[in-house]
Amino acid sequence: MVSYKDLGLVNTREMFAKAIKGGYAIPAFNFNNMEQLQAIIKASAETKSPVILQVSKGARNYANQTLLRYMAQGAVEYAKELGWEHPQICLHLDHGDSFELCKSCVDFDFSSVMIDASSLPYEENIALTKKVVEYAHKYDVTVEAELGVLAGVEDEVSSAVSHYTKPEEVVDFATRTGCDSLAISIGTSHGAYKFTPEQCTRDPKTGRLVPPPLAFDVLDAIMEQLPGFPIVLHGSSSVPQEYVDMINKYGGKLPDAVGIPEEQLRKAAKSAVCKINIDSDSRLAFTAAVRKVFAEKPGEFDPRKYCGPARDLMEELYKHKIINVLGSNGKAE
Ligand code: G3H
Ligand code: 13P
Ligand code: ZN
Repeated sequence: MVSYKDLGLVNTREMFAKAIKGGYAIPAFNFNNMEQLQAIIKASAETKSPVILQVSKGARNYANQTLLRYMAQGAVEYAKELGWEHPQICLHLDHGDSFELCKSCVDFDFSSVMIDASSLPYEENIALTKKVVEYAHKYDVTVEAELGVLAGVEDEVSSAVSHYTKPEEVVDFATRTGCDSLAISIGTSHGAYKFTPEQCTRDPKTGRLVPPPLAFDVLDAIMEQLPGFPIVLHGSSSVPQEYVDMINKYGGKLPDAVGIPEEQLRKAAKSAVCKINIDSDSRLAFTAAVRKVFAEKPGEFDPRKYCGPARDLMEELYKHKIINVLGSNGKAE
């Protein structure tokens, strides 16, 4: 077995320690294809931001696990070619749902894995997480666990209702599992519909939905219980209105899509939240750009002519997140 270290990848330990100390968060961007990966690496290299490349179970099934692993290796080399002398790139399994999947990723040179047993009863979550930690730590692979349940429905990640993380459980959970970071539930959720219109108010001027604030009181209570412990926020896309408008303008249909306002993510990034997961925003950017080309140039059939603009828009999005939301720019010179 080749170690992820031989590929130039890093685990999350040092990244997170520095981020908590420095009051910023590491971007965790999901990828499924070459254009997304190119955009992530270009944005990270240009801003010198540490970055986590996330692969979900669905992404592994879609793109093939062997190909994804070599793409990540290629990403490190590409970053160097772009002039990033010391790339800080982590390859992470997002929402691993079994010991076997996590083990397979460790064996396939991932530098970090998430075991998401949050839908199981508490003791079962602990037992499965501990088993993954014991295996992963043998190879210096870091482990993210989850406590509390996020609402939202995705291909592989689904739950109808959210249950905030209970602050009184976090010390026991972190101690008994030995996990390296903890994903919590404070009101974020997956996808482009994070809140129903009924949960929101409407801005009288624009008519747009204004979501309720995240439960920062729960985050504060968790940080009080686990001072300095790395906290992770899933479901942190902002669902930029400009992309939703573009999609709707060019034939799409995304009524009342709503995400997490960026000022709330900025606030979270300054706390012990040191990893912020973003996937849906990249999907929206990709779709918006492709729809625009299809609408304006119906005769176009060279995929480079529509995937190229999609890649450019995603790169712009990633840079914006790094510089204006997470504050991780310049942290990996
Ligand atoms: O948290 C879920 C990520 O957005 C990955 O979604 O399972 O559809 O690849 P996916
Ligand atoms: P979004 O759907 O908000 O982008 O969340 C992504 C995520 O949490 C991946 O694990
Ligand atoms: Zn997630």
